[in-house]
This record gives sequence, structure tokens and C-alpha cells, in this order.
Amino acid sequence: MKTASSIRDLSLSSQGKKRIEWALNRMPVLEKITERFTKQKPLKGLNIGCCLHITTETAVLALALKAAGARPILCASNPLSTQDDTAAALVSEYGIEVFAINGEDNETYYSHIDAVLAQDPVITMDDGADLVSTIHKRARHNRDIKLPWGSTEETTTGVIRLKSLERENKLLYPVIAVNEALTKHMFDNRYGTGQSTMDGIIRATNKLIAGSTVVIAGYGWCGKGAAQRARGLGANVIITEVEPLRALEAVMDGFRVMPMKEAAPVGDLFITLTGDINVITEEHFKVMKDKVIICNSGHFDVEIDLKGLKRAASSKRNTKPLVEEYMLDGKRIYLLGEGRLVNLACAEGHPAEVMDLSFANQALSCEYLKNNHQNLENRVYNVPDNIDKDIAKMKLGCMGITIDILSQEQKKYISSWEEGT
Ligand code: ADE
Repeated sequence: MKTASSIRDLSLSSQGKKRIEWALNRMPVLEKITERFTKQKPLKGLNIGCCLHITTETAVLALALKAAGARPILCASNPLSTQDDTAAALVSEYGIEVFAINGEDNETYYSHIDAVLAQDPVITMDDGADLVSTIHKRARHNRDIKLPWGSTEETTTGVIRLKSLERENKLLYPVIAVNEALTKHMFDNRYGTGQSTMDGIIRATNKLIAGSTVVIAGYGWCGKGAAQRARGLGANVIITEVEPLRALEAVMDGFRVMPMKEAAPVGDLFITLTGDINVITEEHFKVMKDKVIICNSGHFDVEIDLKGLKRAASSKRNTKPLVEEYMLDGKRIYLLGEGRLVNLACAEGHPAEVMDLSFANQALSCEYLKNNHQNLENRVYNVPDNIDKDIAKMKLGCMGITIDILSQEQKKYISSWEEGT
């Protein structure tokens, strides 16, 4: 088992502190919320378990929770996304408990989840539903388990897992689906994933995107973002999609749309963002060109069939950090970040400016759960509309942007069925 002792390293922690400050200066909405939290202490004395990517932006969220009087306890939501300098700074500069180390194996990953749950958090925050799912698995075997008041969920994949618990009537406490807030997915999933995915690919490979054929699997908010950014860099973009409406949208957005089987022999770079398993499989690897790059930006490392890739390959070697070369019948396929989230494994995740919106939703949803959990059912709830709108308003305000306000006459017109021309 890998230990987390290195996170106490001093130079690592001073570097982490400077990087956290960089993020802090780009998250003005969360800063405003933190100012109020500091005065009002709305989460005083609460243990909050956070299974999130351990990045500088998450550090800013943890500081907001601490300012609110809570005791945040952190573990990673992905074994490759932890920024060790950030974890070190959180522990030694800010006194926040972190159980995470970059590259941790499966056993360590789950022992860190256990370490967070051992503190009996009353609220949990997930990015991918690992805390919720661990609690639910335990509750199946132990009826005396202490359940949290509620949870929040950051990502599309986590919300899908939670909705399936809800559908089967197995959800044991209320959950707020932060991902469903408009100020979350319209910005984080689209602009955050879009930019950071291309960032991860470029940092890992230094590949020229202009003129290359980029195949993007999935045209949800994340896929749309990646497609826009790839096109912006000069790529010829192909979309693969199973949902007819989204496929049609991709066509009208000006992309070529086709099945993966047809895209496989023509693509230079493949990016999966679907949330589902086995999107690129052995039949596709076999027909790919020499020197193609494949990567995933969906939550779990299941979208590229890694077992199939290993089976089909005659050899495998590391070429540079986080770039593995597989040989298939004399052709080379390069896999980035072990098939895990390329934007976090090979880069730093979404920029702070967009995480400002996502984590403002997290902080305010946490406060909402504290105040309302007794009146909530065991269901998956959206972030209340007023919170979502307030965050948009605050962000515009922080950006120095003002907008028009409806006149009384306009309000009356727009809400009346009588008025026509
Ligand atoms: N998910 C994607 N990017 C992230 C970031 N920078 N911090 C935390 N979670 C993220």
C-alpha cells in the first residue's frame, strides 16, 4: 500500500500554497460566499466528507467549508487526479485533512474512502458517487450504520448512478445533483471539459491539432465542449453518438457524424466522453491507422476497452510520462493517462474560473442540505432554482458585466396570455 507521508513535504507544500492562491484569485463567487460563511458560520461543527479531485480549486472549496465552521475531510475521486502539492499544502498550511496521493492503487484509494467515512460525515460530497455507493453497500449488510443527512454530487456519471438507486427505491437519504444546475453543466462540462481535455492531450503529446482528424465519442455537454475546442484548434472533427437528437444537433453544428466503426480507420486522435463502457474496442483498434492517439475524458476508465487493447497488442511500452505505446500488427496506438480522465491525469482539470461556478453550487447546496434535510425525501433533487440564478448573477457581477432589467410594462406583457401584437 502506498502511504501519504510525502504530502507533508515542505517545499511541495509551499508550492501547493502558491498554486491554491492562484486558483483563489480566480474564484470570486466562492470568495464572496466564503466572506459570508466566515461571518455566519452556517456549517459550524459539521464533519463534511468530500470525495473530489484533489486540485487547487477543490482546495478553495475546502477553505470555504472550513470558513463556514465545518471540518472538511478530503479523499480523491480518481487515483490519478490528485495534485500532491495541493494535498500537502492543505494538510500543513491550512490544517485540512486529506487522504489522497497521486498514483494510489485501488486498495489505497478505497482505504482513503474508508478513512473519510470513519469520521461519520453528516454531509458528503461526491464526484462520481463513490462515497454514496460505499455507504449504500455497507448499509445493505449493516442496518446500524450511521447515515449522513444528505449528499451532493458533482458529475454526470455520479448523477446517473444515483438516479438508478432512486429508481430502485434504494436511496437512503436526499442527494442534491449539483451537476444538473445550469450554472454547473452549461459551463463546467462544456467550457471546462472542452478546454482541459485539449490541454491534457497537448501537454502529454505536444501534438499539432490543426489539420488532424479528431474523433469525439459522445455529444453531451462535455463532448460538445471538446468538439468546439478541437475545431477551434483547426481539427477536422467527427462525432460519434448513439442518441438521435444529439447526433442531429452535431450534424447541424457542422460536424461529420458516423458510427465508430467508420471513424476508426480515419481518425488521428480519439477522445471518449460518453459515460458508458466499451466505446472503443478491439474491432476498432484493429482498423486504426499507425500512430493514432486515444484517450478518455469521461469519469471512469471504462470507455476504452483496455483489456481488449492489451489482448490485441503484441507489446506495450512507456514512451513518455502518461503515454503508453501499444504495438498491433506493426502499428502503434498511443494511450494517454491509462485511459483515465485525460484532463485531470495529464493536465490540471478545469480552470478555476469555471470551477468557481461549480463549487459555488457545491458550497450553497451544502448549506441548503444543512438547513433543509429534515424536510427532504430520499430523492435526487436539483439545486434550487434561486441558488442557480444567484450564482449566475454573482458571476456576472464579479466579471463587471451588467445586463438589462425588464420594465414593468415588459414584465406584464411577457406574463400575459391576452397581449399579442
Ligand atoms: N473536475 C474537473 N476539473 C476539476 C478541477 N480543476 N478541480 C476539481 N474537480 C474538477
